[in-house]
Amino acid sequence: MEQHPNPESPIAVSGLCKSFGSLVVLDRITFQLKAGEVTCVLGRSGTGKSVLLKLLIGLETPDSGSIRLEGYDIASASGGELNEARKRVGFLFQQAALYDSMSIEENVAFPLRRHTKLASAERSERVHRLLASVGLEQDLDKMPSEISGGMRKRVGLARALALDPSVVMFDEPTAGLDPITAAEIAKLIVELRAKRHITSIVVTHDLHTARTIADRVIVLDRGKALFDGTFEGLDQSKDPFIAQFVEDAA
Ligand SMILES: Nc1ncnc2c1ncn2[C@@H]1O[C@H](COP(=O)(O)OP(=O)(O)OP(=O)(O)O)[C@@H](O)[C@H]1O
Ligand SMILES: [Mg+2]
Repeated sequence: MEQHPNPESPIAVSGLCKSFGSLVVLDRITFQLKAGEVTCVLGRSGTGKSVLLKLLIGLETPDSGSIRLEGYDIASASGGELNEARKRVGFLFQQAALYDSMSIEENVAFPLRRHTKLASAERSERVHRLLASVGLEQDLDKMPSEISGGMRKRVGLARALALDPSVVMFDEPTAGLDPITAAEIAKLIVELRAKRHITSIVVTHDLHTARTIADRVIVLDRGKALFDGTFEGLDQSKDPFIAQFVEDAA
């Protein structure tokens, strides 16, 4: 059955397909996010989680299907529209992707320099506030090489929030972190929902973190969305693939 995107949904994907050569990565994926919810996308390594996020912000082009992000039709958007759409979306990349030659402060200031006309004092005030919100107000002048992996993720998060986005996408926000730091990141994601009503999509294979933050979970497997629902539904699923997935990922 064809699904019509809900105009209220910040992200609506319908019949999304993506292959690389003969490798089918995503095969007719359809879902809509609800505003203000945290949706976790789970799946084994190589199931297309990062590709999905890249498609959502137009860094990859779909073979077919539609993607609506904050009212923009991403697959057919012009460069200018894509730019506008991206301003409303914060993106935390899998490897944090900080600019190595810039200080922590400069990294967070970067989107503000690029996309706003804020005066330098206002910009600086904003950067300080963002870094304080992730507990890094003491580390402004450090370089990315001088801070830990967990701190880099937090800087990446502060930078992702710089333009006050309504949607934030996280690619493996807790991968490679110890459980305590992972829990801190999870807490920050939950706070974004509670304090700013931000819609989040969190790609992860960390089932434990997903359980603590997700309103909803989508499981990708072999190109398909094998499950879409709540954690209770996931745990109670009689589908043998789902049950196996939950057992393997636990
Ligand atoms: N630009 C590309 N060109 C060719 N193949 C690609 C490209 N990007 C991704 N792939 C392939 O698509 C598949 C899905 O990749 P993706 O990075 O989305 O996996 P993932 O689910 O994010 O895995 P992980 O959990 O390890 O991060 C992989 O087989 C990958 O090799
Ligand atoms: Mg990935």
